[in-house]
Amino acid sequence: MDAITALQTRTASPRLVEPAPSANELDTILKAGLRAPDHGMLRPWRFLIVAGDARAKLGQLFAVQMEPQTEEQTKKLLNAPLRAPLIIIAVAEIQDHPKVPAVEQICATAAAVQNMSVAIHALGYSSIWRTGAPAFHTGVKEALGFNARDEIVAFLYIGTPTLADRPVPENAVADYVKEWG
Ligand SMILES: Cc1cc2nc3c(=O)[nH]c(=O)nc-3n(C[C@H](O)[C@H](O)[C@H](O)COP(=O)(O)O)c2cc1C
Repeated sequence: MDAITALQTRTASPRLVEPAPSANELDTILKAGLRAPDHGMLRPWRFLIVAGDARAKLGQLFAVQMEPQTEEQTKKLLNAPLRAPLIIIAVAEIQDHPKVPAVEQICATAAAVQNMSVAIHALGYSSIWRTGAPAFHTGVKEALGFNARDEIVAFLYIGTPTLADRPVPENAVADYVKEWG
């Protein structure tokens, strides 16, 4: 798939199953992520790969850290990471820098996530970028090995879609763009 087609046809898939990208394909996807723009070349992004049994372990981490109040909430947290065979957790590890504020380090990490989601699509798989309450929870960040000021930018769920591709929404350029000046 050529780059422009991949960029214009990527859609998110909420239901994902095996097969996930192979180890080689995952390497290709991560290398696409690492080509994101990055002010000051700070390399603020960190990626945690979660697959196989580690997904259940991640669910347990959510269920412990988020302190759910009901059985239903607990079940939801335990099962959340099982919604795809592979997850990349993308974290912006924020550094102090005189010219590159935290927001730019988060932007760089988000650009890496988008590069990866397009690469996943170009390789014939699909993904969905999720965050939700665990992404903003200090206990979750710390249990994953990060600090409170770091930002979990994405839980990128990856696999093969079970549903037919959603039609690519029509976007009218004129709704968002105007000539200035
Ligand atoms: C920062 C960010 C966080 C998101 N978090 C969620 C989420 O937690 N749950 C969800 O269903 N979609 C989430 N989305 C949206 C989906 O990834 C997806 O973009 C949306 O379902 C629309 O589908 P499309 O990308 O095919 O247009 C998030 C998107 C972004 C950019």
